Amino acid sequence: MQSEIRTKLLEAFSNANGEFISGQKISETIGVSRTAVWKHMEELRKEGYELEAVRRLGYRITKKPDKISANEIRLGLQTKVIGRTIHFEDQVTSTQKIAQGLASEGTPEGTIVVADQQTSGRGRMARAWYSPSGTGIWMSLIIRPNIPVSSTPQLTLLTAVAIVQAIEEVTPLKPDIKWPNDLLINGKKVVGILTELQAEADQVHSVIIGTGINVNQQESDFPDELKPIATSLFQESNKKVERSQLIQSILLKFENLYHLYLENGFRPIKLLWESYAISLNREITARTLNGTVKGKALGINDKGALLIESEEGDMIEIYSADINLSE
Ligand code: BTN
Repeated sequence: MQSEIRTKLLEAFSNANGEFISGQKISETIGVSRTAVWKHMEELRKEGYELEAVRRLGYRITKKPDKISANEIRLGLQTKVIGRTIHFEDQVTSTQKIAQGLASEGTPEGTIVVADQQTSGRGRMARAWYSPSGTGIWMSLIIRPNIPVSSTPQLTLLTAVAIVQAIEEVTPLKPDIKWPNDLLINGKKVVGILTELQAEADQVHSVIIGTGINVNQQESDFPDELKPIATSLFQESNKKVERSQLIQSILLKFENLYHLYLENGFRPIKLLWESYAISLNREITARTLNGTVKGKALGINDKGALLIESEEGDMIEIYSADINLSE
């Protein structure tokens, strides 16, 4: 199907909000004959859309395939800047890598790179991130905030809040945040966030926020070593989630929080973050690149660092670590 007609057709259905649109109206809006409309509808059916056709009323889409594409993300997206430039690929090594290249070439703020599958997905601490096709959200967002390099960890916390809010909007689930950037449901990881910088001295050129979300995987889809520690939104809610709808919700929540942050600073974000955090006021073990700290997690400071009162009674600030919560 010519992609322009397809975009217009999907746009017309998106504007109709699930109501019927007559064949006549569609053919007028798109500027093709009614026979051509019918042919394009058949194409959509083959792609996995479920359509209802009722005499005198016309057509409506009753179910979309869970296939992500730039079109699916764009249609119905309510943001002004975030996600307005979309690079979608079926398969990439890592969306972070593609985003790094685009950021260096000066792509606009808010550009997103989304892939259906990553062959070398990257996690924090140089780990691999399992990113199979057809089930998850593998997305990198490029922003260019005018903030000091030392404040950039705050953006990871902001992103975690945006994703919790989006998951709460699109599913019945209530994820917890484990500092700094893991989202857990029933103690298992469902989302990971990796923030990377392009910066010099004390000037941020771009911040690339990579988000991996386990959306529609069944338990058997995970490799054995991940089964005890990872879960998906589907596993926890028993309902398939439309990935493009969740992406749209994340982008809108992010845009709203990012405005709030640029206008009012980190304080309102910190309060929201703390309301979702499970790692506070608990005994934890933090494994950093410089060693292990055991103690009580007291909160986060204004930079977004975790404050731990060590077993020896010292106050320690931690910027990057793996956290284990004691039972
Ligand atoms: C973590 O270790 O918890 C962070 C995982 C981040 C994974 C995402 S998936 C999209 C983006 N591209 C990557 O290669 N990694 C991030």
